[in-house]
Parts: sequence; structure tokens; C-alpha cells
Amino acid sequence: MADKENLLTVEHLKKYFTVGRGKILHAVDDVSFSIPRGTTLGLVGESGCGKTTVGRTLVRLYEPDGGKIIFDGQDISAVKGKEKRELTRRMQMVYQDPYASLNPFFTVGEIITEGLEIHGIGGSKKERMEIAYNLLEKVGLHREHANRFPHEFSGGQRQRVGLARSLAVNPEFIVCDEAISALDVSVQAQIVNMLVDFQQSMGLTYLFIAHDLSMVRYISDRTAVMYLGTLVEIGDNKEVYDHPAHPYTQGLLQAVPVADPQYEREHAGNNVMLGEVASPVNPGPGCRFCSRCPWADARCREETPTLTDLGGGHMAACHHLEKH
Ligand SMILES: Nc1ncnc2c1ncn2[C@@H]1O[C@H](COP(=O)(O)OP(=O)(O)OP(=O)(O)O)[C@@H](O)[C@H]1O
Ligand SMILES: [Mg+2]
Repeated sequence: MADKENLLTVEHLKKYFTVGRGKILHAVDDVSFSIPRGTTLGLVGESGCGKTTVGRTLVRLYEPDGGKIIFDGQDISAVKGKEKRELTRRMQMVYQDPYASLNPFFTVGEIITEGLEIHGIGGSKKERMEIAYNLLEKVGLHREHANRFPHEFSGGQRQRVGLARSLAVNPEFIVCDEAISALDVSVQAQIVNMLVDFQQSMGLTYLFIAHDLSMVRYISDRTAVMYLGTLVEIGDNKEVYDHPAHPYTQGLLQAVPVADPQYEREHAGNNVMLGEVASPVNPGPGCRFCSRCPWADARCREETPTLTDLGGGHMAACHHLEKH
């Protein structure tokens, strides 16, 4: 039976890459979370922690090496053929660099209608073009733009084209992978506000991956924090940002300027972001954050901490949560 509340649930997801003889890179290692329908989960963490790999594995661009992906009540971890094609319609991915994902030899009209054609949406070519014109207007462009090529647009406009292409096929779930990170701040805000509008009018569910914590905080309902392939904290925004439990989350938040002198005072001297990052290749047992953690002790080096519920779905994976 479909899970009424969650559109997506990930259980113990694993994605490994072989990077040399006997060298296995644990890009995503036992990650679990859910995203309620019509909400946004932000996914943050330093470069290389596995955010994109989570996104690509969820939408089945990568084959998972373990765990389950449950989408709208169905385990999609191993679906193939026609079922998988239908999933590529229902789950879309929007990238940081739409230029790389927009075919330079196609006009914008062709780019938007291609997905419609593949998925048999819109009867005739004329009807499909009508859908494309409507979408262009919806994302703040003009119907005349349909005849232009990607290189004739600015970065922000290209991101709008990418969004129109994704929305054309009526998706339910969109992974926005650093979709706004390369844009000017004012353009970022326009695109984010557009995403929020679309979410409300179309009931969309998002996984919003970004470096910029303030943008993630603004757009998401909940935030998940990743460190070296594992989830170290997840919860409602007000919990994660106002009461971060994991020393890594605290470090991340400390790295962004906070307009709260009391917070600054309380967390001074705890700069974990300067330490050495461990390797995701053949990781040993224990907490992966050990090498940077001010609280690390013998137990942390031997025993991998699991996510513990601190109440209200706010969870963190640390042996020293009592110190937070
Ligand atoms: N196709 C691949 N083959 C081998 N290793 C990979 C591959 N894709 C990613 N990795 C490795 O997996 C880890 C996670 O990479 P990923 O791109 O998911 O990180 P990320 O959190 O998205 O980083 P960024 O913030 O820089 O985009 C990294 O160590 C990366 O080098
Ligand atoms: Mg990435």
C-alpha cells in the first residue's frame, strides 16, 4: 500500500565505486531518510560527501549497491524497462550546469518537447509546442525563446529552460542538484521563489542539494547533513539550524556567518572544519568524523554511531549527543 505521508523513503542506501584494485570508494554508505509529499528536504555537506551520488541513485541514474528506494509506496530499487522509463518521467533531476545537459544543437522548443514525445504526452507536434510555449511563460521566459539555442541564453535563463524541460513531463519529485549555485544571488532568489511557487501549485516534492546553507534553510522544510557518505543529522529546519546536535553540523553552521552573537560565543573554539577529512576509500569501523571531532574517544574510533532520535524526528549519529 502506498505510504500516504511520504512520497520517498530511502532505507540503508549504498552506492560504491571501484577506484582501483581492491579499492572501494563508499560514496553513499547506509543512508536512510524519508521525504513527505509536497515538502522539501535540503541535503548539505562538504564537497565529495556524496550528495550528488544520493540524488543520482534515487532517480536510478546509478544502480544502488544496497538498500531500498521506495517511491510512492513501490520499491523502485531494481525496476527495469517500461517501469523504469515511467520513473524517469515521475522523477526529474535539475543540475547546476544546465548548459552541459541541454543539447546545443536543439532549439529550446525541441529541448522541451523531446521529453513529451518520449513519454507520449501531447497528441500532435503542434500540441506539444503549445505545451512548451506555456511552460516557457511559466518559468518567466517568452514563447519566442522556443526558436533559440541554449548558447543564446544567460545562465539564469538556461536554468529556467532546464526547469521547463523537467516540468514538461509532469513530475512528482525533483532533485535540484546545486541548481542555483552558479547563479548571481538575485537570480538565485528568483529561481528559488519559482521553485516554491511550483511546489505549491503542482504539489511537487523536492530534494534540494546545495552548499549555501542559507538558501537550503530558506527553501526546505527539513534538512539532512551528510559527512563522508553517511547521514550525520536530519530534522526539521528549526531543530537542525537552531539546535544542531552533531559536532559536524555545528561546524558547518559556524562556517557561515551567523547574526547571533550569543551563538557565536557559545560555539567559539570548536572549529572542527580545520581538521583532516578521512578517506571514503575502504573506510574502517568507527565514526567517520573522528579525525576532526573534538569529542572523539576510543569508542568513536571502534563503533559506528547510528542515527538516534532526539525527539520529533530530529536525529543525529554521534556517541556524545549528551554533550550537545
Ligand atoms: N562515477 C564515479 N566514480 C568514482 N568515484 C565517484 C564517482 N562519482 C562520485 N565519486 C566519488 O564519490 C564521492 C561522492 O561524490 P559526489 O559527487 O556524490 O559528492 P558531492 O557531495 O555531490 O560533492 P560536490 O559538493 O562537490 O558536488 C566522492 O569521493 C567522489 O570522488
Ligand atoms: Mg555534487
